[in-house]
Amino acid sequence: MRALDGLDLTVGEGTVLGLLGPNGAGKTTAIRILTTLLRPDAGRATIGGCDVVRDAHQIRSMIGLSGQYAAVDENLTGRENLVLFGRLYQLSGADAKRRASELLERFDLADAAERIVKTFSGGMRRRLDLASALIGQPRVLFLDEPTTGLDPRSRLGMWEIIRGLVRGGATILLTTQYLEEADELANSIAVVDHGRIIARGTADELKTQVGGERIEVVVRDRAALSRAAELLSRSDGDESTIEEHTAGSRSPLTEVPSASSRWCATSTRRRSR
Ligand SMILES: Nc1ncnc2c1ncn2[C@@H]1O[C@H](COP(=O)(O)OP(=O)(O)OP(=O)(O)O)[C@@H](O)[C@H]1O
Ligand SMILES: [Mg+2]
Repeated sequence: MRALDGLDLTVGEGTVLGLLGPNGAGKTTAIRILTTLLRPDAGRATIGGCDVVRDAHQIRSMIGLSGQYAAVDENLTGRENLVLFGRLYQLSGADAKRRASELLERFDLADAAERIVKTFSGGMRRRLDLASALIGQPRVLFLDEPTTGLDPRSRLGMWEIIRGLVRGGATILLTTQYLEEADELANSIAVVDHGRIIARGTADELKTQVGGERIEVVVRDRAALSRAAELLSRSDGDESTIEEHTAGSRSPLTEVPSASSRWCATSTRRRSR
């Protein structure tokens, strides 16, 4: 089983890279390798000049991870979870408590702070999980599908939180299954499938790559159709397909003189990659 197959990524400091891909594409595997949870069989990755295998200890002190499944302890309260993470990040007891209070406030969890997490909704867990990833004030953040399973309102709330982190100077790699989310949050997007990058660029660049042009010519006389088709296919070197249909079967784009004699030649052209 090859989960990743030559995946090659760069994330500029202070920017957000969106890793966009369907189930099983390799997103979580990539994040697990970059966050030192999984050792790669081959290849190399560095964060801020440190190698994820050789310098794993240093890497762990500079990154924060909010995994696909919330890593918080269900049997502790929201506050206890954050204090525990603070202690794991080697903060003093007092600093861990102070940081926990700050984060509970910032993530709108102050009122629920003394409840055990078992009673939290999915959106609250997700926010607590992200808060726990921020305990050590990491410069680099990995967010694995931060909004999957959230309702539309909670998703917008999470987007605002992520935008706030970006304004604060964080470098973020986030994965998502939604182009819309990558479009909203990421400076650049890498589309991954079967462990490989199959397209990359800004949201606008990607949309241009998959977009196409459609030229529809309506003729009065069926006899003129083959001539119209020939002219369309000649327009330039890109791949063209010609469809023939009576215009009455769809809403005509052009006003035509007689409803009984409408014929269309359509050239649909995808931009070549
Ligand atoms: N521990 C493992 N053992 C064997 N195969 C695995 C393991 N973890 C992942 N895989 C396989 O590797 C491929 C990539 O999985 P991965 O979890 O990275 O995908 P993903 O893009 O995160 O998907 P999803 O959107 O469902 O979270 C899948 O085919 C998966 O079955
Ligand atoms: Mg995953």
